[in-house]
Amino acid sequence: MATQGAFDPDAYKATTLEQWEAAAAAWHRWDPVLDNWLGEATDAMLDASGVASGARVLDVAAGSGGQTRAAAQRVGRTGHVLATDLSPAILAYAEDEARLAGLSWISTRVLDAENLDVEPGSFDAVISRLGFMYFPNQQDAFRGMLRALRPGGRVAGIVFSTSEVNGFFSRPVAVVRRHAQLAPPAPGMPGPFTFGPPGVAEAALTHAGFIDVAVRAVQAPVRLSSSAECVQFERESFGALHQMLSGLDEAGRAAAWTEIAEQLSEFDGPDGFVGPCELLVVSGARPHG
Ligand SMILES: C[S@@+](CC[C@H](N)C(=O)[O-])C[C@H]1O[C@@H](n2cnc3c(N)ncnc32)[C@H](O)[C@@H]1O
Repeated sequence: MATQGAFDPDAYKATTLEQWEAAAAAWHRWDPVLDNWLGEATDAMLDASGVASGARVLDVAAGSGGQTRAAAQRVGRTGHVLATDLSPAILAYAEDEARLAGLSWISTRVLDAENLDVEPGSFDAVISRLGFMYFPNQQDAFRGMLRALRPGGRVAGIVFSTSEVNGFFSRPVAVVRRHAQLAPPAPGMPGPFTFGPPGVAEAALTHAGFIDVAVRAVQAPVRLSSSAECVQFERESFGALHQMLSGLDEAGRAAAWTEIAEQLSEFDGPDGFVGPCELLVVSGARPHG
């Protein structure tokens, strides 16, 4: 296996931005599938962060804004949701969808999660759905979220648990790593399953200064008509896979996708494709005083 040189957070972030700019339209196109798949975990995230009528919510790594709109429905027009993302292209979809839905109390701003330039103490809740694992300097991100919250305000995010219980994604990731000769990320480095092992997410939030830290597992199987549809979903819209495949030529990428299709077909059954997925809802509070 090729050894990876010293991890370069700036280079990693530049590639992340490039890949999400490229995947933006597809991620948005798959919004209805995302809503089905992530709906229950999204509700759990909003509960865990205390999002209620009138709340001011900061959404970090908002993407095309599925969870932004869910938060906006809860806070109502007396509240406010600021959706932020590194990628202007994907955030433009969140802005369009908010306008189309008449949710005028959503606003958007391009912001790096690791440099949250917002008024300190001005939010009741911070949320982030499938975002934490992309941050190379994760403590900068968590400390920025802590600063953005008022005392007693809560953060909650959704991350993948371990690779063993996330076959719909860990199988493709393993295939891609083998084809691209990439070693798994070292502990603390960004990667899809970084926050999965017991205690990791709790330690990260506690280290940043959060209290009342909790983790709840939510089963979120990916239900699609067939494994072919899941391959299409991941091939079109999963920025992390694109990122890992970026070092291969076209033939190399095609070979990897052929093997991914074979592997995912194991999850086809009488009810269509049911891909194993366990999510963690990770939450904590800013201490008073
Ligand atoms: C898997 S998508 C999730 C999008 C959305 N939260 C959802 O669940 O539909 C990951 C998002 O993280 C964003 N992202 C990655 N690194 C980021 C960073 N450093 N700061 C802000 N956003 C980032 C990407 O642009 C992308 O929109």
